Amino acid sequence: MTKEAQNFTGMRVLVTGGTQGIGQALVSAFAEAGAHVLTCGRSAPPSPLTVAADIATEEGRDALLAAVLHLDGPLDIIIHNAAIQQPLNYASGTAIGDAADKEIAVNLVAPIRLTELLLPHMRHPGGAVCFLTSVLAYRPKTSAPVYCASKAGLRSFALALRHQLAPQGIRVVEIVPPLVGTAMTGGRGRGKISPEKAARAVLAGLARGEPQIVIGKARTALLLDRWAPRLLARLMANQ
Ligand SMILES: NC(=O)c1ccc[n+]([C@@H]2O[C@H](COP(=O)([O-])OP(=O)(O)OC[C@H]3O[C@@H](n4cnc5c(N)ncnc54)[C@H](OP(=O)(O)O)[C@@H]3O)[C@@H](O)[C@H]2O)c1
Repeated sequence: MTKEAQNFTGMRVLVTGGTQGIGQALVSAFAEAGAHVLTCGRSAPPSPLTVAADIATEEGRDALLAAVLHLDGPLDIIIHNAAIQQPLNYASGTAIGDAADKEIAVNLVAPIRLTELLLPHMRHPGGAVCFLTSVLAYRPKTSAPVYCASKAGLRSFALALRHQLAPQGIRVVEIVPPLVGTAMTGGRGRGKISPEKAARAVLAGLARGEPQIVIGKARTALLLDRWAPRLLARLMANQ
């Protein structure tokens, strides 16, 4: 176990969306680092630390809260990871209202509602609430406008929440991954990193107390966004 991983021994961690992808890798990484990890997913085989729950529904969020209340102490870390991404084209003439609602419900409304539900059960001082945003929260791509909007909204929520929770000693952390090889990115993009590598970077950033964990090539993208925004906008227009 690395020195950084030792920081998580005995901690209670909740990762939403741990059935695959980055969430699953985070669950494994925290468990290997000695944490008690609670997770959820619509397709999760239920167990004491895995809740079969759709966080876009009130029942799903209540089921997650019930599992949190069964832990033998407050949550040290929440990682709002679960999300969906759908290609939606408003120029296509096809009806996409329901798909857009669903995307906003999972990616934006659910983490906001879960934050309210779970905050009373967070360790304070010393807890951390973390949000997986995206480079697309900064600079949207053409093919997934609602996903990009949901991530920009989530980032904005996280930044305001950071100010509100600072007096209680609860950190709010933004995590910005690069392109990671998961079901969400299947069939597109090159130069993806593995979910395990992304998870290791998250644990290392948390152990160092970083308020914003920007991983790998996402750093270059955010630099471009700052210093060459028109170039990044052109690149994203083709995505
Ligand atoms: N992959 C990338 O390149 C990339 C880049 C930047 C940011 N991100 C962000 O990183 C996070 C993880 O992405 P990923 O690529 O690992 O995605 P993924 O492989 O598609 O996994 C998504 C996870 O979320 C769960 N989930 C989806 N809808 C849910 C719902 N309604 N209720 C409960 N769980 C739900 C899924 O489980 P079930 O299907 O079982 O419900 C699954 O475990 C997301 O927030 C994504 O936006 C990813």
